[in-house]
Amino acid sequence: MASARGHWGNRTGFVLAAAGSAVGLGNIWAFPYMTGQNGGGLFVLVYLACVAGIGLPIMMAEIFIGRTTQTSPVGAFRKLSRPGSAWMGVGWLGVVAAFIILSFYSVIAGWSLHYVWLSITSTFADQTPVEIASIFEQVRTDPALSSLWHVIFMAITIAIVIAGVQSGIETWSRILMPALFIILGILLVYAMVKGNFAQGVKFLFAPNLDNFSWNSVPAAMGLAFFSLSLGMGALITYGSYLKTDDDLVSTSITVSVLDTSVALLAGLILFPIIFAVGQETDQGPGLVFTTIPIAFAEIPGGLVLAPLFFLLLTFTALTSAISLLEVATAYFIDERGWTRTKATLATGGAIMMIGIPSAISGGSRLFGAGVQKLTDPLYAGPGKNWFDVLVDLSFNLMLPIGGLGIAMFVAWRVDDAAREAGFSAGSKMGRLYWGWLSLLRYVVPVAIVMVLLNALGVFEMLFGGGEAQ
Ligand code: PHE
Repeated sequence: MASARGHWGNRTGFVLAAAGSAVGLGNIWAFPYMTGQNGGGLFVLVYLACVAGIGLPIMMAEIFIGRTTQTSPVGAFRKLSRPGSAWMGVGWLGVVAAFIILSFYSVIAGWSLHYVWLSITSTFADQTPVEIASIFEQVRTDPALSSLWHVIFMAITIAIVIAGVQSGIETWSRILMPALFIILGILLVYAMVKGNFAQGVKFLFAPNLDNFSWNSVPAAMGLAFFSLSLGMGALITYGSYLKTDDDLVSTSITVSVLDTSVALLAGLILFPIIFAVGQETDQGPGLVFTTIPIAFAEIPGGLVLAPLFFLLLTFTALTSAISLLEVATAYFIDERGWTRTKATLATGGAIMMIGIPSAISGGSRLFGAGVQKLTDPLYAGPGKNWFDVLVDLSFNLMLPIGGLGIAMFVAWRVDDAAREAGFSAGSKMGRLYWGWLSLLRYVVPVAIVMVLLNALGVFEMLFGGGEAQ
């Protein structure tokens, strides 16, 4: 029997939940390390352009689809086109992406949870940087430990999603999101006082060509998709719990601004600290797990703040993981008529299992020496394991393709009058309609297709790989 669909208590509840979905490992784990690898300021600028020009219009399109149809992605595409339509494939892709992304996301979040424990028990005190870095090596290559924390993290996620839209997701977002901003504030003050703040600001905002290459552009776009939770229906699903006249324009702007602010704040916290203790900025995905404990062990007061930092990382990961699980769960509730409890346990349990190979693959090549780019073209070479392939697949292919599908669908397939009325419903910013539509129709598809061609190595074939390293 299909259970009644939930709704948000009010618009603030939705904003907090959607921001909770957006703000996550993408902001605090991926944004700083990718910015570090790509040289800083210029990468940040390209990232901001991707958020505003590509991400924001797609976010509005996703919320539009969900809010109009009041159903989760697969059913939403059917309602707005026709039963059996090929567009439903975009919804399907989202459900599959939810399983794939959450399976490795939860492994990284599990490490973060373990690091809360390690830093509370003062494991990092009186250790040399080399010793602290080796702790991360031990953690990520210990199959039992990684699996254990992955399973614990998934269990927490499942427990919240089972409780439902309002009493589970919304309630927890209302608690965790303010907590997150308080922790960010404390850490920012710490970075300003104890870190090399001026150098950090300069690194983050002064355009710098040094480590920037053509590959930095697709990297920035993939990161924007991931960080804003776009391209796999998370915001279609969350949007479906809105009332049909809730303002989607201002809501999307608020969520994007919050998400981007947290990424920039994370940079403003991490880089001054990294510079203060003389660490490298371009260490890759291990950045937060090695540099932060090293920095906090060296700077006075850090040992108290290290647990706080990893608690922050875990909280943000949790509110994002909830939204990923909700996409899979909502499919079984809406399309198969399962109860919420059954749907959550089945999908969450499946994701726990799918995550095990990621947990036992040790984070692999991504964290090792040498090749460390999440943006390496898919199947770029041998030596990739399960974890690598899943990360590449979602960043480089599934989210951009999903985003392209969503943009094309809303821009070209949806009825003109319904689209325009839906955009302006409940909003004072209906004037932005033509700007939004033009971006969705022309800019977004062209940009995404270019990036996909790049990911498939087409430009490299045509122009040679000279500038890209
Ligand atoms: N936006 C989340 C983050 O930055 C990840 C995510 C991607 C969540 C896609 C939902 C959907 O960590």
